[in-house]
Formats: sequence, structure tokens, C-alpha cells
Amino acid sequence: MTNTDSHLRIKAYEEVEKHKEIVNQDPYRLHYHIMPPVGLLNDPNGFIHYKGKYHLFYQWMPFKTGHGAKFWGHVSTEDFVHWTEEEIALTPSEWYEKNGCYSGSAIEHNGKMYVFYTGNVKDEKGNRETYQCLAVSEDGVYFEKLGPVVTLPQEYTPHFRDPKVWEQDDTFYMVVGAQTLEKKGAVALLSSKNLTDWKYEGDLAGGGKGSLSDFGYMFECPDFFPLGEKDILIISPQGLCADGMKYRNVYQSGYVIGKFDRKNKTYEHGQFEELDRGFDFYAPQTTEDDQGRRLLFAWMSVPDQNEQDHPTVDYRWLHNMTIPRELMLVGEKLYQVPVKELEELRNGGYYSQEMTLNNEITEIEGINGKAIELKMKDILLQQGWFEMSIHGAARMVFSNGVFTLERKSYVDGTVENRQCLLDRLHSLHIYIDTSSIEIFINEGEEVFTTRFYPSKSEPSITFGASKTCSFTIEKWDLKKVF
Ligand code: FRU
Repeated sequence: MTNTDSHLRIKAYEEVEKHKEIVNQDPYRLHYHIMPPVGLLNDPNGFIHYKGKYHLFYQWMPFKTGHGAKFWGHVSTEDFVHWTEEEIALTPSEWYEKNGCYSGSAIEHNGKMYVFYTGNVKDEKGNRETYQCLAVSEDGVYFEKLGPVVTLPQEYTPHFRDPKVWEQDDTFYMVVGAQTLEKKGAVALLSSKNLTDWKYEGDLAGGGKGSLSDFGYMFECPDFFPLGEKDILIISPQGLCADGMKYRNVYQSGYVIGKFDRKNKTYEHGQFEELDRGFDFYAPQTTEDDQGRRLLFAWMSVPDQNEQDHPTVDYRWLHNMTIPRELMLVGEKLYQVPVKELEELRNGGYYSQEMTLNNEITEIEGINGKAIELKMKDILLQQGWFEMSIHGAARMVFSNGVFTLERKSYVDGTVENRQCLLDRLHSLHIYIDTSSIEIFINEGEEVFTTRFYPSKSEPSITFGASKTCSFTIEKWDLKKVF
């Protein structure tokens, strides 16, 4: 540990201590989502199942609710319910990362945990340098920095970051989010036999090739993994224009499905699909666990000029992760479902009902609460619309094959919406956590993830239908684990 490193750690922990009380007074503090102890959290990093524990690192700015020279915060769990706050994993203490230990990934090799991340460096004029760095740990908690292992290939601008590393057939591969010299988003591919010497192999996707050849000016946070017989590439492209119901956030996150040709280092793939339809979902990262599940966390926000308008800023913290989800390939579509372990969050308060609504809007006895899980099944809606309002600050409507999520904007209180098409609506699985909602439609066919800020009055959930709508509903209260 260098002097700068220990100085930064002490400063960060001082900040946590100093603001602990005010942070914990926030009524919008979440009950079962990962949040920063103070300051700003963004991307999930280094997600790995290592020696029986899930480790999740995250981009963290301890000193303000804004962006800057990021640290890697760290939490771990065996069951996604009981979490341990671990020591800070990385501080931006060295010359090659002085403006931030930016996003990256983890891999286990010979029993050790190796993390790859972007060392972000800016000069006085704001010019960027980027170094893909390596750090190693014997226990997943204390890291020794080995410094930069990849320098910028000449094909790209310094917007080159967020390495994701995996191993296949005795070779290590790395994808890096990139911008070509022509200012097009791209995913760079590198390979290595030993984790320290890397060879640049060209663009895996984007740049000048395929359906992602002209698709925004930068791809952030790539992830690449096999699922079933296919290889999935996840990216967070920047610079797409809204197109009907698509691409309505400032930046998007989504995937393409294809096949990786390891010999020729090429990747044939299909069209880009968004992973989430809500307002707040970005920079997802996945890992495979020892049960062979492909699990995902994402940042429940998007980089945005209105970040400082979130009411939690008054309480010195900002942003959180999504709940952990399992990915499944159903035909040519990625489905997301909450991990099974989250059933252990259930904490009584159980109600179930069979309901038929007839041209009415009503509450349902026992179906209410600030931190709850709702499961609606066998939804039958012949004609007209179905709607559900949550605590006066968010509303879902299904009508004519369109699912709409509305929320009251935290910037100016106006109603804004996000939408997607659905053949039919037959089930809803909803996680509400004081100021967040995650809606899993039809067993994960579509997902809407969103922050929302209900007024402090009594919460109330209403259900309505313009004609006849029947369904069964179950509700559980969920534990406060943070
Ligand atoms: C995505 C991102 C990454 C970068 C990190 C910095 O949200 O911009 O590209 O590594 O955040 O915090």
C-alpha cells in the first residue's frame, strides 16, 4: 500500500463516518438494493463467484454525489440476501489511474482473483489517456496492483475502456469498449495466454462492421459470454437517437446474439435489442456462477445532466444497483428473472387474492407497502385497458398491445413515459423498494427498471380496468438488509 493509497482510503472512510447519520435518515434509502455508503455509485464491476462467495465491486465516488476519480467499492454475499461491506478494493492512487479506477471485470486463475480495469488519466487541458490495468488478490479482498497491461491500440481514440476478460480453450480474451478514429462505437478484441501479455485482434463488433457499424459514437461496458448455443455481446452504446419506443434514455444498454469464431476471431451477430425498457438501467455486467447460471447486475441509473436533481443528493448519496437477475435465452430473446435466492427476502405480510375488476379503479386489501414483492398471474384482459398506480408516483398501463410505464419526473414533476409492445400480458412480477421499481413482464420477456420518488404520505396501490380484467395476486413484505 503506497502513501497515496492509504491517504485516499482514510479520506474515504472519514467521509463515510461523517455523513453516516444523514445518509441513514433518508426515507428514500433502499431496503434491499446495493447502495453507496455515501457519495455516488455507478457501474457494477468485477462481478464474480469466487471461492463460494459472490463479489460485486462498483464504481464509487466517496467525496461527492458527482462523477470524478472513481474508487472500486466492494460488497460480497453467499446468498444475495446477507451482504458484507468489504474493504475498498481500489483507490486511484497511481499515475496511470490518477483520474479514476474506471470500470472492469474479474476472473479467477490458479485460485487467485485477477481484476482488469481502466486507468483513467486526464491532463490539465482535459486530454485523456487510458490504460487497461491489472490487480491481483489471494483472497478477493486485498489487491496488489500490477499496473497497465494494455496500451491504446492506434485504431482508437482514448475513449477506450471497461475491459471484460474471460477464458475459453486455454486462451484469455478481453473485450474493451471503444471509439474508432472515425468516431464510431466499437468493441475491441484482445487475446492472451498469460493474462499479462495481450495481443490486439481487431474489432469484435461495430467500427466498420455488421449491424453495429454505424451505431453511435462510443460503446461503453462491453460484456461477452456464451449462453446455450449462442454467444451474447452486451454493450452500452452512446449517441443513438430515439426511434419510436426505442432508445428513449440518454444512453442505452442492450445486446446482440451471434456466434464467435475463435479461429478467425470474428463474430457474426444479429440486431441490437435493449435489455430494459425503463428509465434507469445502464452498464450491466454478468458472471457465471458454480450452478452454471448467467447472472446480471446493472447500475439503476443512466449518466445524465439531471443527476443532481435526485432528492437523495440532499442526504449525500446517489444511485444504486438493480436486484440480481438471471439471464435466459428464449428463442432469439434474452429473458431476465430475479434470482431465486430473493425469495429469502420475504418477511411475512403475505396476502393473496383472486380479483376481477369491472370498469373500476380500486385498492386491494392487504396489497400495499413500501418494500414489497408482487406476483400477478393468469392475467386475463379481453378488451380495454388495465392499469396499476404505485404510491401516486408511477403508473403502468397495458392497452392495445402497448405496455406503458409512467413516472413523475424528479426534475420537474411532469409525467414522462417509457413503452414497449407486447403480444399479450399474462404475468407481472414486481419489486418495489421505497424509491425503485423493477417490473418483470411475462416471466422476464420485458423488464422496466426505474427510480421513482413517491410523496411521503401513506402509500397506496390501485388497480383498474376499463372493461373486465381478472388475475391472481400475491404480495410479500421484504426485509431491510442494508
Ligand atoms: C459507464 C462509465 C464507464 C466508465 C465508468 C466511469 O457508466 O462511463 O465507461 O468506466 O462509467 O465511472
